[in-house]
Amino acid sequence: MAALRPISLGERVFWIGVNDRETDLFEGLWPLPEGISYNAYAVLDRKTALIDTVREPYFEEYLEKVDALLPEGGAPDFLVVNHIEPDHSGSLAALRRRYPDLTIVGNKWTLRLLEQYHGITTGTRLVKDGDILDLGSGSIRFLLTPMVHWPETMLSLDESSKTIFTGDLFGGYGALEGALFDDETDAEAREDETRRYFTNVLARFSPMVSKALGRLGEADYDTIAPSHGIVWRRRPENVVRWFSRWSHFEGDTGATVAYASMYGNTKSMSEAVVRGLAESGVHRISVHDLSRSHLSYVLSDVWRSGTLVLGSPTYNTRPFPAMAALVDFLSDKGLKNRRVGLFGSYGWSGGAIRDLRKFVLSAGLTLVDPVVEVKGAPSSGDLSQCHDLGVALAREVALRPAVQGDNIGSADRAEG
Ligand code: FEO
Repeated sequence: MAALRPISLGERVFWIGVNDRETDLFEGLWPLPEGISYNAYAVLDRKTALIDTVREPYFEEYLEKVDALLPEGGAPDFLVVNHIEPDHSGSLAALRRRYPDLTIVGNKWTLRLLEQYHGITTGTRLVKDGDILDLGSGSIRFLLTPMVHWPETMLSLDESSKTIFTGDLFGGYGALEGALFDDETDAEAREDETRRYFTNVLARFSPMVSKALGRLGEADYDTIAPSHGIVWRRRPENVVRWFSRWSHFEGDTGATVAYASMYGNTKSMSEAVVRGLAESGVHRISVHDLSRSHLSYVLSDVWRSGTLVLGSPTYNTRPFPAMAALVDFLSDKGLKNRRVGLFGSYGWSGGAIRDLRKFVLSAGLTLVDPVVEVKGAPSSGDLSQCHDLGVALAREVALRPAVQGDNIGSADRAEG
C-alpha cells in the first residue's frame, strides 16, 4: 500500500508527517477523540535535512515519504532533532539504521537525551544557540528554547523559505483532515483543541513559552510549521496570539464552574451559582461535573475563562477526590490571574473548603465572597447565598473584564 505523498510547503520544504487516529490517550493521560498528527519535515538543498521523525509505529509511512523525496540511491544528510520526546523521535533509531551516515543535529541536551533514549553517541553534530547549519545554497539557524517542553527543545529556521519549525510550540490536538495549511481549513475552529493541547502539555512551562515567543522577533519567518496540527502560512500571527494569551494566563469574560457531588447537594448549589452568573450577564459558562468530565477538558476551559468556580463536598476531611486531582493539576501548572468562587457541603467535620481556600490563597488568585459552605443539604437561604456568589463574580467581571497576565510566575519550576 503506497503512503500519502509528501506535501510541499514551497520549493524546498516538504511535510513528511503522519496522522495518528489509533492512540486513545496522549502521554497515557489525555483523550484524543480527533487523533493527532506528528509533523515532520524535509528541507531539500544540495544537502538534505530532515526535521524530526514520528512515533515509532508510523516509521514505515514516514520512511516512504522520505524516500519519495530522494533521488534513486540517495540518502538524507542531516536529521535535526528539535524535540526528542518519543512522539517525535520514536523512528530515529530505525532511520539511522536505514541511513547509517545520517548526521544527527542537536544541542547539548539533545545529545545527552539521544544517548539516554536511543543509545546513540556517534555521528552527531552539536549546535549552540544561533548556530547555522549550511545546506549548500541555504541554511538552517537554531534558536534554543529550553523547556518548551523538554530541556533540549529548540526552534529551527530555514532562512531561504522563511519557514520556522517550532516543535510542540504552536502545536495542537486533532489529526489533519486533508488540509495541512491554515488557509485550507477553518483554522479558528482548531482553537479549542489547540488550547486543550497547550493546557495539558505546555501550560506548566508558560514562562518558557513566553520567553520563546519573545525570541520569535529574532527570526524572519513567514510560515510556522509545528510538530502537531496545521501549518500556519496565511495568518501565523493568530496562533502566536493564542499562545501568548494562554501562556500569560489571560482569561476571557466567561466562567468555568467545576463541581463534584455525591448525593446532589453540592450539585444543587452549583445550579444556583450558575444561575446567578447567567442572570448577571456572564454569557459563556462551562459547567463540569468532575465525576464525568475528563480533566483534560476542564483544564482547557479553566484557561479560557477569567472566572473559576470550584464546588466540592468534603470527602474524608478533604475535597472530593476528583476535585483534589483538579486542584493538584492547577497547582502544578501554576494557574494565575483568576477570580475564584468557592462553595461546598459537608456532613460533620468539613475540610474541603478549608483546602480549596488554601489553594486559592497560596496560588495568589482572587477569592470572591461569599464563600458558601453548608452542613448537610442546602436550605433555600444557602441556595440564595450561592446565587449571590454568582452575582458577585459577575460584578467582578463587569468591573475588570480582562484578566491580564502580568504575573507569569517563576521560570525555574519546570522539570520534564
Ligand atoms: Fe510533541 Fe513534547 O512532544
